[in-house]
This record gives sequence, C-alpha cells and structure tokens, in this order.
Amino acid sequence: MKDKSRKNKILLVGYRATGKSTLAAELAKRWGLEWVDSDDVVEKVDGRSIAKIFKESGEPYFRDLEAKVIADLLDSDGPLVIATGGGAPMRPETRRAMKERGVVVWLTASPEEIAKRMSGDATTGARRPSLTGASPIDEIVDVLTKREPLYRDAASFIVETDGKTIDELVEIVADQAPEFFF
Ligand code: S3P
Repeated sequence: MKDKSRKNKILLVGYRATGKSTLAAELAKRWGLEWVDSDDVVEKVDGRSIAKIFKESGEPYFRDLEAKVIADLLDSDGPLVIATGGGAPMRPETRRAMKERGVVVWLTASPEEIAKRMSGDATTGARRPSLTGASPIDEIVDVLTKREPLYRDAASFIVETDGKTIDELVEIVADQAPEFFF
C-alpha cells in the first residue's frame, strides 16, 4: 500500500527567474534524487509551448493544467525535487497539497534582478508570456506584490537569492531542509 503520509517532496516556489529549476537540478544531484520542472511537464502533456497555450487557450486553461500536473507530481510515490512555475502557489488547494506532501522553499529576488535574469534567459520568449500587459518591471512589481502573501503561506522557509552563487544556495537549502528524505 502507498504511504501517502510521508513528506517526501521538495518544492521550489517563487517568482519567474528566481533560479528554481537551476537549484532543483543541483539539489537533486546532491541528494541523488530525481527532479522535474512543472513547466516542462505542462508543455509535454499539452504539446504546446506555454506562450502558445496562453495565446490560444488563455491563462485559466494553463492554470488548470498546471494545478493538475502539480497534483499528480505530489501524488507520485517516491522522493522528488519539483521546480514549480511562478504562479503555481496561486491556488489554495495547490498550496495545501504542497505543504502536506513536502518541504516548500520560497526563492526570492529583487524586481530589478528578476527583470535582468528574465531578459537574459533564452527560454523567456516561449515560457513567460506577459501576465498583465504592463512593462516588464511594472508587471514584476505588481504581480510580486500580489503574490507575496501566497508564497509566504506556502513556504516552509525563505531563501534570498540576490548576490548568491548556485553553490551557496545549495548549501543554504541543504542546511535548512529538514531531513524528510533520508
Ligand atoms: C508563470 C511562470 C512561468 C510559467 C508561466 C507562468 C507565472 O514559470 O509557469 O509563464 O505566472 O509566474 P517560471 O516561474 O519557471 O518562469
């Protein structure tokens, strides 16, 4: 019988371009675990890029699919590191399931740093359609302000990423993540 009571997932949440996928891959390597990016799964399941899904089917369709993908990942048996899309914690049921099934790490960065990382990331065009129609920096400040209480609600702990190397971030998370997995 499946033991659904164990908290055996580690989830990385936070705004776009805060380093969730990069850190998920490094943490998984350190712990010898599998890792997955929920945006990758959404695109694979749907067969379209996120930008195309937003354009052709709208954001609510994307949010439903994202919630289903994350629920299924959380429902899987083994330990898993999950990098979530930046808007994943918007749904109360997703936040609840994340907290029930795992350790939730909230990665933060300043709006200026996020804007810089987003514009320098080759995946932004296909993965990060506009959420509000505002300019990049205005959108980041606006959406981040609205989402902060939701990230806070989901988070087991918070990690500030500005000015830190990936190795430093791995150490910080590895130090703080309770030993649920071993
Ligand atoms: C989104 C973040 C993106 C992707 C989609 C929506 C958001 O993921 O899921 O563009 O609403 O913040 P990343 O956080 O990996 O960029």
